[in-house]
Amino acid sequence: MKEPHSIAIYPGSFDPPTYGHMNIVERSLKIFKKVIIAVATNPVKNNLLTPEERIIILKKIYRKNPNVEVDQFHGLLVNYAKKKKVKVILRGLRTVADYQYESQMAFSNKSLNPHLETLFMMTENRFSHISSTLIKEITHFGESAKDMIPPLVRKMIEKKIKLKKEE
Ligand code: COA
Repeated sequence: MKEPHSIAIYPGSFDPPTYGHMNIVERSLKIFKKVIIAVATNPVKNNLLTPEERIIILKKIYRKNPNVEVDQFHGLLVNYAKKKKVKVILRGLRTVADYQYESQMAFSNKSLNPHLETLFMMTENRFSHISSTLIKEITHFGESAKDMIPPLVRKMIEKKIKLKKEE
Protein backbone atom coordinates (compact mmCIF):
# COMPACT_ATOMS: atom_id res chain seq x y z
CA MET A 1 0.00 0.00 0.00
CA LYS A 2 1.13 3.51 -0.80
CA GLU A 3 2.43 5.64 2.08
CA PRO A 4 0.01 8.44 2.95
CA HIS A 5 2.16 11.40 1.96
CA SER A 6 4.73 10.00 -0.38
CA ILE A 7 3.89 12.49 -3.11
CA ALA A 8 3.70 16.28 -3.03
CA ILE A 9 2.61 18.76 -5.65
CA TYR A 10 4.85 21.80 -6.01
CA PRO A 11 2.74 24.31 -7.95
CA GLY A 12 3.79 27.64 -9.36
CA SER A 13 4.06 29.91 -12.35
CA PHE A 14 7.78 29.18 -12.78
CA ASP A 15 8.17 32.16 -15.09
CA PRO A 16 11.07 31.36 -15.08
CA PRO A 17 12.13 28.51 -12.77
CA THR A 18 14.98 29.69 -10.53
CA TYR A 19 17.70 28.25 -8.30
CA GLY A 20 15.31 29.04 -5.44
CA HIS A 21 12.63 26.75 -6.86
CA MET A 22 15.23 24.08 -7.57
CA ASN A 23 16.50 24.24 -4.01
CA ILE A 24 12.97 23.59 -2.69
CA VAL A 25 12.56 20.59 -5.03
CA GLU A 26 15.94 19.15 -4.04
CA ARG A 27 15.25 19.47 -0.31
CA SER A 28 11.66 18.22 -0.57
CA LEU A 29 12.89 14.98 -2.11
CA LYS A 30 14.43 14.18 1.28
CA ILE A 31 10.88 14.14 2.66
CA PHE A 32 8.75 12.94 -0.25
CA LYS A 33 9.38 10.05 -2.58
CA LYS A 34 8.08 11.99 -5.51
CA VAL A 35 7.43 15.64 -6.29
CA ILE A 36 5.15 16.79 -9.07
CA ILE A 37 6.16 20.22 -10.35
CA ALA A 38 2.85 21.60 -11.58
CA VAL A 39 3.06 24.58 -13.90
CA ALA A 40 -0.01 26.78 -13.70
CA THR A 41 -1.24 27.67 -17.17
CA ASN A 42 -3.87 30.19 -16.08
CA PRO A 43 -3.26 33.51 -17.78
CA VAL A 44 -3.49 35.42 -14.46
CA LYS A 45 0.01 36.83 -14.61
CA ASN A 46 1.49 38.53 -17.62
CA ASN A 47 4.02 35.77 -18.23
CA LEU A 48 7.13 36.04 -20.37
CA LEU A 49 7.46 32.33 -21.10
CA THR A 50 4.62 30.23 -22.47
CA PRO A 51 3.54 27.23 -20.35
CA GLU A 52 5.14 24.96 -22.96
CA GLU A 53 8.48 26.77 -22.65
CA ARG A 54 8.38 26.58 -18.87
CA ILE A 55 7.61 22.86 -19.06
CA ILE A 56 10.40 22.20 -21.58
CA ILE A 57 12.88 23.95 -19.27
CA LEU A 58 11.76 22.06 -16.16
CA LYS A 59 11.78 18.73 -17.99
CA LYS A 60 15.34 19.40 -19.14
CA ILE A 61 16.44 20.32 -15.62
CA TYR A 62 14.96 17.14 -14.13
CA ARG A 63 15.49 14.76 -17.05
CA LYS A 64 17.74 12.55 -14.96
CA ASN A 65 15.57 12.52 -11.87
CA PRO A 66 12.82 9.88 -11.96
CA ASN A 67 11.39 11.21 -8.68
CA VAL A 68 10.39 14.49 -10.27
CA GLU A 69 7.42 14.72 -12.59
CA VAL A 70 6.80 17.90 -14.55
CA ASP A 71 3.20 18.55 -15.41
CA GLN A 72 0.84 21.43 -16.12
CA PHE A 73 -2.59 22.30 -14.84
CA HIS A 74 -5.34 24.64 -15.81
CA GLY A 75 -8.01 25.87 -13.44
CA LEU A 76 -8.03 25.40 -9.71
CA LEU A 77 -5.13 23.73 -7.95
CA VAL A 78 -7.50 21.82 -5.64
CA ASN A 79 -9.11 20.14 -8.64
CA TYR A 80 -5.73 19.23 -10.07
CA ALA A 81 -4.64 17.74 -6.72
CA LYS A 82 -7.86 15.72 -6.61
CA LYS A 83 -7.29 14.43 -10.13
CA LYS A 84 -3.73 13.39 -9.22
CA LYS A 85 -4.93 11.91 -5.88
CA VAL A 86 -2.33 13.95 -4.00
CA LYS A 87 -3.05 15.50 -0.60
CA VAL A 88 0.04 17.64 -0.03
CA ILE A 89 0.80 20.98 -1.63
CA LEU A 90 4.34 22.26 -1.19
CA ARG A 91 5.26 25.94 -1.30
CA GLY A 92 8.45 27.83 -0.60
CA LEU A 93 8.49 30.84 1.72
CA ARG A 94 11.14 33.46 1.10
CA THR A 95 10.49 36.19 3.64
CA VAL A 96 7.69 37.37 5.86
CA ALA A 97 6.39 39.30 2.83
CA ASP A 98 5.33 35.98 1.24
CA TYR A 99 3.35 34.97 4.30
CA GLN A 100 0.18 36.96 3.67
CA TYR A 101 -0.27 35.79 0.08
CA GLU A 102 0.67 32.22 0.92
CA SER A 103 -1.60 31.98 3.95
CA GLN A 104 -4.53 33.34 1.94
CA MET A 105 -3.92 30.71 -0.71
CA ALA A 106 -3.48 27.92 1.82
CA PHE A 107 -6.68 28.86 3.70
CA SER A 108 -8.63 29.17 0.46
CA ASN A 109 -7.41 25.80 -0.77
CA LYS A 110 -8.24 24.28 2.60
CA SER A 111 -11.77 25.65 2.47
CA LEU A 112 -12.19 24.24 -1.04
CA ASN A 113 -10.79 20.86 0.00
CA PRO A 114 -10.36 20.18 3.74
CA HIS A 115 -8.31 17.05 3.00
CA LEU A 116 -5.60 19.01 1.26
CA GLU A 117 -2.60 20.12 3.36
CA THR A 118 -0.22 22.92 2.38
CA LEU A 119 3.33 22.53 3.65
CA PHE A 120 5.77 25.43 3.61
CA MET A 121 9.49 25.07 3.31
CA MET A 122 11.70 28.07 4.12
CA THR A 123 13.74 29.13 1.14
CA GLU A 124 17.43 28.96 2.01
CA ASN A 125 18.83 32.36 2.92
CA ARG A 126 21.10 32.52 -0.10
CA PHE A 127 18.04 32.30 -2.40
CA SER A 128 15.59 34.46 -0.46
CA HIS A 129 16.20 37.57 -2.59
CA ILE A 130 15.43 35.74 -5.84
CA SER A 131 12.29 36.74 -7.70
CA SER A 132 11.18 35.78 -11.19
CA THR A 133 10.09 39.39 -11.75
CA LEU A 134 13.51 40.78 -10.81
CA ILE A 135 15.26 38.23 -13.02
CA LYS A 136 13.21 39.44 -16.00
CA GLU A 137 13.91 43.07 -15.11
CA ILE A 138 17.66 42.50 -14.76
CA THR A 139 17.73 40.66 -18.11
CA HIS A 140 15.59 43.31 -19.80
CA PHE A 141 18.15 45.97 -18.87
CA GLY A 142 21.01 43.93 -20.27
CA GLU A 143 22.55 42.43 -17.14
CA SER A 144 22.93 38.74 -16.44
CA ALA A 145 20.95 37.03 -13.67
CA LYS A 146 23.33 34.08 -13.84
CA ASP A 147 23.51 33.64 -10.07
CA MET A 148 19.75 33.15 -9.88
CA ILE A 149 18.98 30.83 -12.79
CA PRO A 150 20.63 27.92 -14.61
CA PRO A 151 22.28 28.65 -18.00
CA LEU A 152 19.48 27.09 -20.07
CA VAL A 153 16.91 29.34 -18.36
CA ARG A 154 19.11 32.38 -18.88
CA LYS A 155 19.46 31.62 -22.60
CA MET A 156 15.72 31.15 -23.00
CA ILE A 157 14.70 34.36 -21.27
CA GLU A 158 17.41 36.39 -23.01
CA LYS A 159 16.05 35.13 -26.33
CA LYS A 160 12.45 35.89 -25.38
CA ILE A 161 13.26 39.39 -24.13
CA LYS A 162 15.24 40.15 -27.29
CA LEU A 163 12.28 39.02 -29.43
CA LYS A 164 9.91 41.15 -27.34
CA LYS A 165 12.08 44.22 -27.80
CA GLU A 166 12.07 43.68 -31.58
CA GLU A 167 8.23 43.48 -31.74
N1 COA B 1 13.27 30.84 -3.90
C1 COA B 1 13.30 32.00 -4.55
N2 COA B 1 12.22 32.54 -5.14
C2 COA B 1 11.07 31.87 -5.09
C3 COA B 1 10.97 30.66 -4.44
C4 COA B 1 12.13 30.14 -3.83
N3 COA B 1 12.12 29.00 -3.17
N4 COA B 1 9.70 30.23 -4.53
C5 COA B 1 9.03 31.16 -5.19
N5 COA B 1 9.85 32.15 -5.56
C6 COA B 1 9.46 33.36 -6.25
C7 COA B 1 9.32 33.28 -7.72
O1 COA B 1 10.50 33.63 -8.35
C8 COA B 1 8.20 34.28 -7.98
O2 COA B 1 8.71 35.60 -8.02
P1 COA B 1 7.80 36.86 -8.43
O3 COA B 1 7.00 37.21 -7.22
O4 COA B 1 8.78 37.91 -8.76
O5 COA B 1 6.96 36.42 -9.59
C9 COA B 1 7.32 34.15 -6.77
O6 COA B 1 8.15 33.66 -5.76
C10 COA B 1 6.17 33.21 -6.90
O7 COA B 1 6.26 32.44 -8.04
P2 COA B 1 5.96 30.91 -8.16
O8 COA B 1 6.69 30.15 -7.13
O9 COA B 1 6.25 30.54 -9.56
O10 COA B 1 4.46 30.75 -7.79
P3 COA B 1 3.18 31.66 -7.98
O11 COA B 1 2.99 32.44 -6.73
O12 COA B 1 3.19 32.39 -9.26
O13 COA B 1 2.12 30.46 -8.06
C11 COA B 1 -0.03 29.41 -7.99
C12 COA B 1 0.82 30.65 -7.68
C13 COA B 1 0.11 28.98 -9.43
C14 COA B 1 0.37 28.27 -7.08
C15 COA B 1 -1.48 29.84 -7.67
O14 COA B 1 -1.79 31.03 -8.35
C16 COA B 1 -2.48 28.78 -8.09
O15 COA B 1 -2.65 27.79 -7.42
N6 COA B 1 -3.15 29.00 -9.23
C17 COA B 1 -4.14 28.10 -9.77
C18 COA B 1 -5.55 28.68 -9.62
C19 COA B 1 -6.04 28.51 -8.21
O16 COA B 1 -6.21 27.41 -7.72
N7 COA B 1 -6.31 29.66 -7.59
C20 COA B 1 -6.81 29.71 -6.23
C21 COA B 1 -5.68 29.67 -5.27
S1 COA B 1 -6.33 29.79 -3.64
